[in-house]
Amino acid sequence: MNIKEKYIFDEVEAYRFGFGPLGPPLMSVFMFYLDGLVIDTAQSNMHQYVIEALEGKKIEKVLLTHYHEDHSGNASALSNFFNVNVYGHDITANKMGKDFKIRFYQLYTWGKSGITSLSPLPPLIETERYKLMPIHTPGHSKDHTVYLEENNGWLFSGDLYLGERIKYFRSDEKFKDQIDSIKMILEYDFDALFCAHNPVPEKGKARLAKKLSFLEELYGEVQRLCLKGYSEKAIVKALGNEKDKLVKFVTLGNVSFAQMVRSALES
Ligand SMILES: [Fe+2]
Repeated sequence: MNIKEKYIFDEVEAYRFGFGPLGPPLMSVFMFYLDGLVIDTAQSNMHQYVIEALEGKKIEKVLLTHYHEDHSGNASALSNFFNVNVYGHDITANKMGKDFKIRFYQLYTWGKSGITSLSPLPPLIETERYKLMPIHTPGHSKDHTVYLEENNGWLFSGDLYLGERIKYFRSDEKFKDQIDSIKMILEYDFDALFCAHNPVPEKGKARLAKKLSFLEELYGEVQRLCLKGYSEKAIVKALGNEKDKLVKFVTLGNVSFAQMVRSALES
C-alpha cells in the first residue's frame, strides 16, 4: 500500500511518499517544492510517482538536506529527467559521488540512491520570488543542512526536528552536535518548520525549542546516572521504555534508544 499525498502550505507544496509493497509503509517522507526549487527528493522506491508529481512544473534546482537515502533517493533521477543541477553540502557531495552501503531495512523501506554529482551550495539560493540560505546543522548526520527563507519565516529542516520527544537515534547520530545545531538555528526567526517527516506549518520554532529542552534534559539525566556509576546498559534500562522495540527489531539495533544513550555518553 503506497502513500502519495499532496499538501499545500502557503506557496510551498509538500509531497508525502511511503512505500509499502506488503502493507502500510514502515515510514514516509516529504519532498517540498516552491518556485522552481525541489527540496529533498524522497525514496528511490517511489521514483515513478516522484517524477509524476513534478512533471510539467518549472524545475530549476534540486537541493538536498543530507545524503540519507530517503532524502537523496531520486536526486540522480530528477537531475537527469529535468536536466537540472543538484546542490548540497560538500560532505553530501562526497557521499553522493560514490556508491554508499545501506542496510536491508533501508533498502526495503526506501531503496538505494544513485550516484550523483553535486554542485556546491552558494551562500544564497535565489528564485524569482524567494531567497533560501543554506545553514550547516550537523548532528543527525555530518552533512546535515537546512534551508531558511527568512522573509517568509520558512525553515526546510530536513531531519533536524522529527518530533519534540524523539525516541531513537541511528548509530551515526551525534547528541551534542544536534543540541548545538538546534540552539544555533533557534537564533534565527521562522514560524513554519518544513520537517521531512513531520511538517509543522505554524509555530514550528516553539516546537523545535521544545525538542531542544527534551534533548538537554535527557542529556543531563544520562550524565547524572553515569556519574553515579551506572553502566550504559543500566542507563538504557533506567531511562528507556518499550517505544523503540519495533524500530530496534526492524533495524537490527541500528536505530534505538540505546543509540541515544551511547551518543550522549560519547559527547
Ligand atoms: Fe536522515
